[in-house]
Amino acid sequence: MTFVVTDNCIKCKYTDCVEVCPVDCFYEGPNFLVIHPDECIDCALCEPECPANAIFSEDEVPAGMENFIALNAELADIWPNITEKKDALPDAEEWDGKPGKLADLER
Ligand code: SF4
Ligand code: F3S
Repeated sequence: MTFVVTDNCIKCKYTDCVEVCPVDCFYEGPNFLVIHPDECIDCALCEPECPANAIFSEDEVPAGMENFIALNAELADIWPNITEKKDALPDAEEWDGKPGKLADLER
């Protein structure tokens, strides 16, 4: 089991999640973070920390976002590790809550 970052992180990237992860299993792209499914220990600490409510347990990913499970696994193998919180993206508040941001994902 793992936790999964979903659509609402895109273009927000608040990074509060990174600070609480005991195993440093977040990986960073230009405008999105992902969790490495083989490294996540399922502690659930990150889920309530995300201001965008973008993190879910694998078995509670909302309907229509199941594709993010594979996307996290794919990108975690490619992107660099992130272990410290940084500033959110400049327009994070504007984009927070907008649906269907997957088309805006930068790789
Ligand atoms: Fe890290 Fe725990 Fe979140 Fe998994 S559930 S990504 S181990 S903080
Ligand atoms: Fe993204 Fe939420 Fe973390 S917006 S970077 S999953 S705190």
